Amino acid sequence: MTQSFETTRRWLRRAGSARLEFGADYNPDQWPREVWDDDVRAMREAGVTVVSLAIFSWARLEPREGVFDFAWLDEVMDLLHAGGIAVDLATATASPPPWLTRRHPEILPVTRTGETLWPGARQHWRPTSPVFRDYALRLVRELAVRYADHPALVAWHVNNELGCHNIYDYSDDAARAFRLWLRERYHTVEALNHAWGTAFWAQRYDDFEEVLPPRLAASHPNPTQQLDFKRFSSDALKEHLRAERAVLRKITPEVPVTTNFMVMGETRGMNYADWAAEVDFVSNDHYVLPGPQARDELSFSANLTGNLAGGHPWFLMEHSTSAVNWQPVNVAKKPGELFRDSLTHVAHGADAVCYFQWRASKAGAEKYHSAMLPHAGTDSDLFRDVVRLGDRLRELAPVAGSRRSQAPVGIVFDWESWWVAEHDSHPTDRLRYRQEALDWYTALLNNGIRADVLPAGAPLDGYRMLIAPILHVVPSALADRLDAYVTAGGHLVTTYFSGIVDEHDQIWLGGYPGALRDLLGIRIEEFGPLLDHETAELDNGTTGTLWTDRIDVTAADVTVLARYKTGEQAERPAVTRRPVGPGSASYVSTRLGPDGLTRLLPSLLTPADVRSELPEDLAGRVELTIRDTHWFLINRTDDQVDLTTLDEPPLAPREVRVLHR
Ligand code: GAL
Repeated sequence: MTQSFETTRRWLRRAGSARLEFGADYNPDQWPREVWDDDVRAMREAGVTVVSLAIFSWARLEPREGVFDFAWLDEVMDLLHAGGIAVDLATATASPPPWLTRRHPEILPVTRTGETLWPGARQHWRPTSPVFRDYALRLVRELAVRYADHPALVAWHVNNELGCHNIYDYSDDAARAFRLWLRERYHTVEALNHAWGTAFWAQRYDDFEEVLPPRLAASHPNPTQQLDFKRFSSDALKEHLRAERAVLRKITPEVPVTTNFMVMGETRGMNYADWAAEVDFVSNDHYVLPGPQARDELSFSANLTGNLAGGHPWFLMEHSTSAVNWQPVNVAKKPGELFRDSLTHVAHGADAVCYFQWRASKAGAEKYHSAMLPHAGTDSDLFRDVVRLGDRLRELAPVAGSRRSQAPVGIVFDWESWWVAEHDSHPTDRLRYRQEALDWYTALLNNGIRADVLPAGAPLDGYRMLIAPILHVVPSALADRLDAYVTAGGHLVTTYFSGIVDEHDQIWLGGYPGALRDLLGIRIEEFGPLLDHETAELDNGTTGTLWTDRIDVTAADVTVLARYKTGEQAERPAVTRRPVGPGSASYVSTRLGPDGLTRLLPSLLTPADVRSELPEDLAGRVELTIRDTHWFLINRTDDQVDLTTLDEPPLAPREVRVLHR
């Protein structure tokens, strides 16, 4: 992964020195020829260094079956190259053309309720359709051969946001592929029956051929079938990525291959921890989601992306200069937000700052989406900001190539726990996995503590504290790793509904949380989920919602850090901590939210000897990230922040300051 990213960087450097890349999706096929020259001129003015090209161009590149028209793309590639702009060339397979779906409607995805997703938008293809795969790979081959030696080509962009709209397909193709996948996983139908617990509700299978995707059923579908279908669906798209990549690598072995992930909000279908090794460099798309934690959510996503990339630089493939078009109300960015959003990604390791898209569309479903060049044209505040940001990125060239420095605290982020913890037929349907993880992140930021949001399989060495919110699925190997982490002196903090099931979504018996019970020194006989109007007061001044547990302390050395004051669990422990040699294992049994966690955290951080690296007066108001010798100070607030304690001029509202130390 790293090596190829270095390759990309070397290629990009041919046009200049080491730098942070700046650019956008470029859709020249939406515009008449004469606009293209203006585009390249304005791109140069803005300091654009790279564009992602031809993402939705299949119908133009192959207007009729087997008839290819590359003349226009040749011209665009040449124009960009002449302008010193590199190209991340898409394989253009994201949106199949009308002739293909007319001839082969069997490539269209089918929903859980049996409805076909018809053409007319985009990504209307089944990940498992052999017919689609053939047509797609033929196009990829044609493109690779055509542009193999084009000097503008610096990377391949496989498809686009794989799984954005078509992650779950319940078609007959999917059913066939799911059965194959299950055969590979379980080998025998007995093993599948055992893993899925099919003795329940007479679900026993006699043959793999009887198995279906979890289509709309009379009641709750088998939970392990749901989990395996999620695993399979993520794998099916990963397979598509690998299939395109195989074609590209054969023809252009030296050109790095990427695809844009969507580490963002509630987008959860693709297990990126498992995908990251499939790309030559990690790319991500991120859009700000309105709400009280909008800024922190951006930081959380960028942070996780940086850790998916193993701490190496990554490519921010898309975000927005201002409003998007797909939220209920699409709010423009406020002054300073464009800079802060873009530079927060850089602070977390992005070496490229790219947008959807270069020029705002005149027609189509995204015509109200912002772009680098808005409808108003170059004579606009937005374009002037874009030009200024281009200048700023040039100044930040020394940051390019630097690595994220490991933080003192890790937050474990696990896709399978996310999927399973939110399944139906659980103690509550109100639980939100990612929100809980984000709340801890916000609480750490409020305490001025740097944290790494880590995939569950990442190395844990070097973290003084590890927070594993709702780590629901804990196979024995993971339990062993956590045990070893604590025994070696690490401080583990976990929460309600963690350590409950194994990799088959089957309960660890003997009292909850089975997989972590001994380590934590507690035992829970029954969960105590709360109704929407219920709360549980704790004696440390915080208030729990959503969940409580009936905790019995089973180890003599456990300290109760907080007890319930009110509700069914009154007098019982709410937060516990068990010292284990030089380490410890703590448990938080309720949802405290960002404010409650902010208040609770010092009682966990202090004994673990985790301290803010920021002067006390800045903790909470400033986010600190470190890339090698570069310190990023991000103003989390909309107010000016005094930096006297750092001997620096004040941070303007939303400003990001980079100190080279
Ligand atoms: C992404 C997509 C882009 C564009 C953008 C709008 O999901 O990759 O093509 O649709 O969102 O925000």
